Amino acid sequence: MSQNCGSRYGQGTVLPWQDRRQGARQAQNFPVFTVEMPAERVDWSAGSVPRSVRFGDTYYSTDNGLAESRMVFLCGNRLGVRLQDGFHVGELGFGTGLNLLACLDLWNTSRCSGQFNFTSFEAYPMRWRDMQRAHAAFPEVSSLSAQLTDHIRRGESRFRLGAANVAIVYADARIALPECRLDIDAWFLDGFSPRCNPQMWELALLREVARNTRAGGTIATFTAAGWVRRNLALAGFKVVRQAGFGSKRHMVVGHYEGAGTSGSIRTEPSG
Ligand SMILES: C[S@@+](CC[C@H](N)C(=O)[O-])C[C@H]1O[C@@H](n2cnc3c(N)ncnc32)[C@H](O)[C@@H]1O
Repeated sequence: MSQNCGSRYGQGTVLPWQDRRQGARQAQNFPVFTVEMPAERVDWSAGSVPRSVRFGDTYYSTDNGLAESRMVFLCGNRLGVRLQDGFHVGELGFGTGLNLLACLDLWNTSRCSGQFNFTSFEAYPMRWRDMQRAHAAFPEVSSLSAQLTDHIRRGESRFRLGAANVAIVYADARIALPECRLDIDAWFLDGFSPRCNPQMWELALLREVARNTRAGGTIATFTAAGWVRRNLALAGFKVVRQAGFGSKRHMVVGHYEGAGTSGSIRTEPSG
Protein backbone atom coordinates (compact mmCIF):
# COMPACT_ATOMS: atom_id res chain seq x y z
CA MET A 1 0.00 0.00 0.00
CA SER A 2 1.39 3.40 -0.91
CA GLN A 3 0.63 6.08 1.66
CA ASN A 4 1.98 9.44 2.66
CA CYS A 5 3.42 8.77 6.03
CA GLY A 6 6.12 9.55 8.46
CA SER A 7 9.26 7.61 8.57
CA ARG A 8 12.23 9.23 10.11
CA TYR A 9 12.45 6.09 12.13
CA GLY A 10 13.46 3.47 9.70
CA GLN A 11 10.61 2.60 7.37
CA GLY A 12 11.81 4.27 4.19
CA THR A 13 12.61 7.50 2.40
CA VAL A 14 11.55 10.74 4.02
CA LEU A 15 10.31 13.51 1.75
CA PRO A 16 9.10 16.36 3.95
CA TRP A 17 7.90 19.61 2.41
CA GLN A 18 5.55 22.40 3.32
CA ASP A 19 2.53 22.22 1.08
CA ARG A 20 1.95 25.69 -0.37
CA ARG A 21 -0.91 24.60 -2.60
CA GLN A 22 -3.44 24.79 0.21
CA GLY A 23 -5.44 27.97 0.58
CA ALA A 24 -5.14 30.04 3.73
CA ARG A 25 -8.45 28.71 5.01
CA GLN A 26 -7.07 25.22 5.17
CA ALA A 27 -3.85 26.39 6.84
CA GLN A 28 -2.45 22.87 6.76
CA ASN A 29 1.06 23.66 7.87
CA PHE A 30 2.54 20.26 8.38
CA PRO A 31 5.19 18.16 6.70
CA VAL A 32 4.24 15.43 4.26
CA PHE A 33 6.20 12.17 4.31
CA THR A 34 6.10 9.51 1.62
CA VAL A 35 6.91 5.86 2.20
CA GLU A 36 5.66 2.35 1.53
CA MET A 37 4.06 1.21 4.75
CA PRO A 38 2.63 -2.18 5.73
CA ALA A 39 -1.06 -2.18 6.68
CA GLU A 40 -1.73 -2.57 10.36
CA ARG A 41 -2.87 -5.97 11.64
CA VAL A 42 -6.31 -5.92 13.19
CA ASP A 43 -7.83 -8.62 15.37
CA TRP A 44 -11.57 -9.24 14.81
CA SER A 45 -11.93 -12.17 17.20
CA ALA A 46 -14.04 -10.15 19.64
CA GLY A 47 -16.79 -9.39 17.08
CA SER A 48 -17.55 -6.10 15.35
CA VAL A 49 -15.06 -3.95 17.29
CA PRO A 50 -11.51 -3.96 15.90
CA ARG A 51 -8.62 -4.56 18.28
CA SER A 52 -5.05 -3.55 17.60
CA VAL A 53 -2.64 -6.49 17.61
CA ARG A 54 0.27 -4.07 18.14
CA PHE A 55 -1.22 -2.29 21.16
CA GLY A 56 -3.60 -4.91 22.56
CA ASP A 57 -6.46 -2.44 22.85
CA THR A 58 -9.74 -1.87 21.00
CA TYR A 59 -10.06 1.12 18.67
CA TYR A 60 -13.09 2.33 20.63
CA SER A 61 -15.57 1.23 23.24
CA THR A 62 -17.12 -2.22 22.87
CA ASP A 63 -20.36 -0.64 24.24
CA ASN A 64 -20.95 1.58 21.17
CA GLY A 65 -18.08 3.35 19.44
CA LEU A 66 -20.22 5.96 17.72
CA ALA A 67 -22.06 6.90 20.93
CA GLU A 68 -18.69 7.09 22.70
CA SER A 69 -17.28 9.34 20.00
CA ARG A 70 -20.26 11.67 20.27
CA MET A 71 -20.11 11.89 24.03
CA VAL A 72 -16.37 12.05 24.56
CA PHE A 73 -15.07 13.97 21.57
CA LEU A 74 -18.03 15.96 20.19
CA CYS A 75 -19.75 16.86 23.47
CA GLY A 76 -16.41 16.95 25.34
CA ASN A 77 -15.29 19.72 22.97
CA ARG A 78 -18.78 21.30 22.88
CA LEU A 79 -18.82 20.97 19.11
CA GLY A 80 -22.62 21.11 19.05
CA VAL A 81 -22.35 24.85 19.69
CA ARG A 82 -18.82 25.53 18.39
CA LEU A 83 -18.49 23.75 15.05
CA GLN A 84 -18.68 26.38 12.33
CA ASP A 85 -17.22 27.56 9.05
CA GLY A 86 -13.40 27.60 9.29
CA PHE A 87 -13.24 25.47 12.45
CA HIS A 88 -10.19 23.19 12.75
CA VAL A 89 -10.37 19.80 14.49
CA GLY A 90 -7.12 17.99 15.34
CA GLU A 91 -6.89 14.33 16.21
CA LEU A 92 -4.20 12.03 17.55
CA GLY A 93 -5.00 8.57 16.15
CA PHE A 94 -7.17 8.37 13.00
CA GLY A 95 -7.81 4.63 13.43
CA THR A 96 -11.03 3.67 11.68
CA GLY A 97 -11.98 7.31 11.03
CA LEU A 98 -15.11 6.91 13.12
CA ASN A 99 -14.55 10.21 14.94
CA LEU A 100 -14.38 11.98 11.59
CA LEU A 101 -17.66 10.37 10.52
CA ALA A 102 -19.31 11.39 13.82
CA CYS A 103 -18.08 14.95 13.33
CA LEU A 104 -19.37 15.13 9.76
CA ASP A 105 -22.69 13.67 10.85
CA LEU A 106 -22.96 16.43 13.48
CA TRP A 107 -22.15 19.05 10.86
CA ASN A 108 -24.77 17.66 8.47
CA THR A 109 -27.50 17.58 11.10
CA SER A 110 -26.76 20.99 12.59
CA ARG A 111 -27.40 23.15 9.50
CA CYS A 112 -23.84 24.48 9.47
CA SER A 113 -22.71 26.09 6.27
CA GLY A 114 -19.21 26.46 4.88
CA GLN A 115 -16.43 24.02 5.60
CA PHE A 116 -14.17 22.84 8.39
CA ASN A 117 -10.73 21.27 8.61
CA PHE A 118 -9.96 17.90 10.10
CA THR A 119 -6.28 17.04 10.60
CA SER A 120 -5.45 13.64 12.06
CA PHE A 121 -2.15 11.92 12.86
CA GLU A 122 -1.82 8.20 12.27
CA ALA A 123 1.37 6.12 12.49
CA TYR A 124 -0.08 2.67 11.78
CA PRO A 125 -2.86 2.99 9.17
CA MET A 126 -5.34 0.16 8.90
CA ARG A 127 -6.57 -1.33 5.64
CA TRP A 128 -9.62 0.32 4.09
CA ARG A 129 -11.43 -3.03 4.23
CA ASP A 130 -10.93 -3.16 8.01
CA MET A 131 -12.29 0.38 8.23
CA GLN A 132 -15.30 -0.61 6.17
CA ARG A 133 -15.90 -3.63 8.38
CA ALA A 134 -15.69 -1.50 11.54
CA HIS A 135 -18.14 1.08 10.17
CA ALA A 136 -20.65 -1.60 9.21
CA ALA A 137 -21.81 -1.64 12.84
CA PHE A 138 -23.02 1.97 12.43
CA PRO A 139 -25.55 2.13 9.58
CA GLU A 140 -26.45 5.75 10.34
CA VAL A 141 -23.09 6.84 8.94
CA SER A 142 -22.98 4.31 6.09
CA SER A 143 -22.99 6.88 3.30
CA LEU A 144 -20.15 8.86 4.89
CA SER A 145 -18.28 5.59 5.50
CA ALA A 146 -18.54 4.64 1.81
CA GLN A 147 -17.12 8.01 0.77
CA LEU A 148 -14.30 7.88 3.33
CA THR A 149 -13.21 4.33 2.53
CA ASP A 150 -13.20 5.20 -1.17
CA HIS A 151 -10.60 7.90 -0.52
CA ILE A 152 -8.55 5.60 1.71
CA ARG A 153 -8.72 2.79 -0.88
CA ARG A 154 -7.24 5.19 -3.44
CA GLY A 155 -4.37 5.96 -1.05
CA GLU A 156 -5.38 9.62 -0.60
CA SER A 157 -4.29 11.44 2.51
CA ARG A 158 -5.84 14.84 1.71
CA PHE A 159 -9.34 15.02 0.39
CA ARG A 160 -12.68 16.77 0.69
CA LEU A 161 -15.37 14.73 2.43
CA GLY A 162 -18.67 16.62 2.58
CA ALA A 163 -17.89 19.85 4.42
CA ALA A 164 -14.57 18.58 5.76
CA ASN A 165 -11.13 19.31 4.36
CA VAL A 166 -9.50 16.13 5.61
CA ALA A 167 -5.75 15.74 6.07
CA ILE A 168 -4.34 12.53 7.47
CA VAL A 169 -0.69 12.88 8.45
CA TYR A 170 0.66 9.35 8.19
CA ALA A 171 3.41 9.67 10.74
CA ASP A 172 4.26 9.16 14.36
CA ALA A 173 2.66 12.16 16.04
CA ARG A 174 5.76 12.58 18.20
CA ILE A 175 7.80 13.21 15.08
CA ALA A 176 5.31 15.06 12.88
CA LEU A 177 3.66 17.42 15.36
CA PRO A 178 6.88 19.27 16.29
CA GLU A 179 7.16 20.24 12.61
CA CYS A 180 3.60 21.53 12.38
CA ARG A 181 2.16 24.99 12.71
CA LEU A 182 -1.52 24.44 13.25
CA ASP A 183 -4.16 26.55 14.96
CA ILE A 184 -6.40 23.80 16.23
CA ASP A 185 -9.75 24.73 17.79
CA ALA A 186 -10.56 21.30 19.26
CA TRP A 187 -8.47 18.17 19.75
CA PHE A 188 -9.61 14.56 19.88
CA LEU A 189 -6.90 12.84 21.95
CA ASP A 190 -7.54 9.25 20.98
CA GLY A 191 -4.33 7.25 21.08
CA PHE A 192 -5.31 3.98 22.82
CA SER A 193 -5.24 3.67 26.59
CA PRO A 194 -2.19 5.19 28.30
CA ARG A 195 -1.41 1.75 29.74
CA CYS A 196 -1.20 0.21 26.23
CA ASN A 197 0.35 3.21 24.46
CA PRO A 198 2.07 5.58 26.92
CA GLN A 199 3.94 7.30 24.05
CA MET A 200 0.75 9.08 22.94
CA TRP A 201 0.42 10.76 26.35
CA GLU A 202 4.01 11.86 26.91
CA LEU A 203 4.55 15.39 28.17
CA ALA A 204 6.70 16.31 25.15
CA LEU A 205 3.91 15.35 22.74
CA LEU A 206 1.20 17.09 24.79
CA ARG A 207 3.33 20.24 24.81
CA GLU A 208 3.31 20.02 21.01
CA VAL A 209 -0.46 19.60 21.09
CA ALA A 210 -0.62 22.80 23.17
CA ARG A 211 1.74 24.67 20.83
CA ASN A 212 -0.53 23.78 17.91
CA THR A 213 -3.70 24.92 19.73
CA ARG A 214 -5.22 28.39 19.41
CA ALA A 215 -5.90 30.31 22.64
CA GLY A 216 -9.26 29.12 23.95
CA GLY A 217 -8.95 25.83 22.03
CA THR A 218 -10.10 22.65 23.73
CA ILE A 219 -9.18 19.01 24.21
CA ALA A 220 -11.21 15.93 25.07
CA THR A 221 -10.14 12.39 25.80
CA PHE A 222 -11.66 9.15 27.05
CA THR A 223 -8.90 8.59 29.61
CA ALA A 224 -8.70 10.18 33.04
CA ALA A 225 -5.43 8.56 34.15
CA GLY A 226 -3.82 10.77 36.81
CA TRP A 227 -0.44 11.06 35.07
CA VAL A 228 -2.10 12.02 31.79
CA ARG A 229 -4.06 14.78 33.53
CA ARG A 230 -0.86 16.00 35.15
CA ASN A 231 0.96 16.03 31.80
CA LEU A 232 -1.93 17.92 30.19
CA ALA A 233 -1.80 20.49 33.00
CA LEU A 234 1.99 20.81 32.66
CA ALA A 235 1.52 21.35 28.93
CA GLY A 236 -0.71 24.33 29.70
CA PHE A 237 -4.26 22.94 29.64
CA LYS A 238 -6.82 23.59 32.34
CA VAL A 239 -8.31 20.11 32.66
CA VAL A 240 -11.50 18.87 34.25
CA ARG A 241 -12.48 15.28 34.96
CA GLN A 242 -16.08 14.40 34.24
CA ALA A 243 -18.33 11.35 33.93
CA GLY A 244 -17.07 8.91 31.31
CA PHE A 245 -18.76 6.82 28.64
CA GLY A 246 -20.18 3.36 29.32
CA SER A 247 -18.18 1.43 31.87
CA LYS A 248 -15.56 4.20 32.12
CA ARG A 249 -16.00 6.21 35.32
CA HIS A 250 -14.33 9.34 34.02
CA MET A 251 -13.11 11.19 30.96
CA VAL A 252 -11.22 14.47 30.68
CA VAL A 253 -11.91 17.77 28.94
CA GLY A 254 -9.81 20.90 28.98
CA HIS A 255 -8.95 24.18 27.39
CA TYR A 256 -5.81 26.08 26.54
CA GLU A 257 -5.46 29.69 27.55
CA GLY A 258 -2.45 30.41 25.40
CA ALA A 259 1.34 30.27 25.58
CA GLY A 260 2.85 31.36 28.86
CA THR A 261 -0.13 30.34 30.98
CA SER A 262 0.05 27.44 33.40
CA GLY A 263 -2.58 24.71 33.45
CA SER A 264 -4.42 23.17 36.37
CA ILE A 265 -6.44 20.11 37.28
CA ARG A 266 -9.96 20.03 38.69
CA THR A 267 -11.69 16.80 39.43
CA GLU A 268 -15.22 18.10 38.95
CA PRO A 269 -16.81 20.49 36.45
CA SER A 270 -16.90 24.09 37.57
CA GLY A 271 -20.67 24.08 36.98
C1 LIG B 1 -7.85 4.33 19.79
S1 LIG B 1 -7.26 4.28 18.12
C2 LIG B 1 -8.05 5.69 17.37
C3 LIG B 1 -9.50 5.47 17.05
C4 LIG B 1 -9.99 6.45 16.03
N1 LIG B 1 -9.95 7.81 16.46
C5 LIG B 1 -11.30 6.06 15.41
O1 LIG B 1 -12.17 6.98 15.23
O2 LIG B 1 -11.45 4.91 15.04
C6 LIG B 1 -5.60 4.90 18.34
C7 LIG B 1 -4.88 5.17 17.03
O3 LIG B 1 -3.65 5.80 17.32
C8 LIG B 1 -2.67 5.33 16.42
N2 LIG B 1 -1.36 5.58 17.02
C9 LIG B 1 -0.77 4.91 18.04
N3 LIG B 1 0.42 5.46 18.36
C10 LIG B 1 0.58 6.51 17.50
C11 LIG B 1 1.60 7.49 17.34
N4 LIG B 1 2.70 7.49 18.12
N5 LIG B 1 1.44 8.43 16.39
C12 LIG B 1 0.33 8.44 15.61
N6 LIG B 1 -0.67 7.54 15.71
C13 LIG B 1 -0.55 6.59 16.66
C14 LIG B 1 -3.02 3.86 16.28
O4 LIG B 1 -2.47 3.31 15.12
C15 LIG B 1 -4.54 3.91 16.26
O5 LIG B 1 -5.03 4.00 14.96
